[in-house]
Amino acid sequence: MPEVVTTIAELRQRVASARELARREGSSDAPVSRVVLVPTMGALHDGHLQLVRQARDLGGIVVVSIFVNPLQFGPGEDLDRYPRSLETDLSRLEGLADLVFAPSVGEMYPAGSVETRVTAGSVASLYEGASRPGHFDGMLTVVAKLFNIVAPDVAVFGQKDAQQVHLVGRMVRDLDLPVTIAVVDTVRESDGLALSSRNRYLDPSERAAAVALSRALAAGSAMAGAGTDAVRTAAGAVIAAEPAVKLDYLVVVDPETFLPVGEGHSGPAIALIAARVGSTRLIDNERISFD
Ligand code: PAF
Repeated sequence: MPEVVTTIAELRQRVASARELARREGSSDAPVSRVVLVPTMGALHDGHLQLVRQARDLGGIVVVSIFVNPLQFGPGEDLDRYPRSLETDLSRLEGLADLVFAPSVGEMYPAGSVETRVTAGSVASLYEGASRPGHFDGMLTVVAKLFNIVAPDVAVFGQKDAQQVHLVGRMVRDLDLPVTIAVVDTVRESDGLALSSRNRYLDPSERAAAVALSRALAAGSAMAGAGTDAVRTAAGAVIAAEPAVKLDYLVVVDPETFLPVGEGHSGPAIALIAARVGSTRLIDNERISFD
C-alpha cells in the first residue's frame, strides 16, 4: 500500500524530505527529485490508473490526491452519493504511487467555507459550466490549493475532462503557477464508452445506451471532411436515435480558445458532448482535424 497522508503539514514535510533525500544523493537535476501530482476524487478506475502510470513514467515522486471536493458540486448534484472507496483506491495504487494525500473536508476547508476563490472566467460559464454553475470556480480553487500544498513540478490530468484541462492550463498561465500540465488520453471500455467514476451509477440498460456518446463522436469525426455543421449533424443523429440519452450539448470548439468554431474552420478542433442517461450525466470529447 502507498503511504497515506491526511494533513497538509505532513504532506509538505514528506514531499520536502523526499526532495532533500534526492538532493543529498546528488541527483537534484535527475527525475528522482521531480514531484508529479495526480489530482483525483477517488473511486479510481483504469483511466485514473493510466494517469498515475504516466506520472510514474515521468520519473520522480508520484503523489496522488484523493479528495471529493464539495466546492465543485452544486446544490442537487451528486456530492452525497459520489463514490468513496479509499481502501480499494489504495490497493489499486499499490506499486504506482509513492504518496497518497487524502485530506478530510475539514483539513482542506477549516473555516467551513472559503471566502477567496479562483474565478474561472468566461469559458467556465459554457458547456459543463452552463449546466453546473460555479463548478469550475470550485474545481480551480481546489486545484490551486493542491498545487500550493504539494508544489508539484508536473500535474497530470485526463483529456476526458477537456474543459477542465483547458481551464487548468489557463489558470497556470494567467497566475504564473510554476507547474507543467501533462494531459493523458481518455481510456475507454472495449465498446468505446469513456471510463468515468459515474459509469457505476448506470443500470445495464443505461450502460448499453451510454455508448451512444462515443458513437456520436465517432460518427461526427468521420464527417470532418464535410465541415463542422456536418460533424454536428452526424453526431446529433446518433444521439437522437437513442431515446434513453438526453443531449445536453454537442459543440465543436477551438482547442486554444475553447469557443465554438464556425463552419469555415480549418485546423484542429475538439468535439464536446454531454448527455443525461437516466439520472447520470456523462461527458466525452474527441479531437477532430478540419484540413
Ligand atoms: O477531475 C477531477 O477528478 C477533479 O475535478 C479534480 C481535478 C481532482 C479536482 O477536484
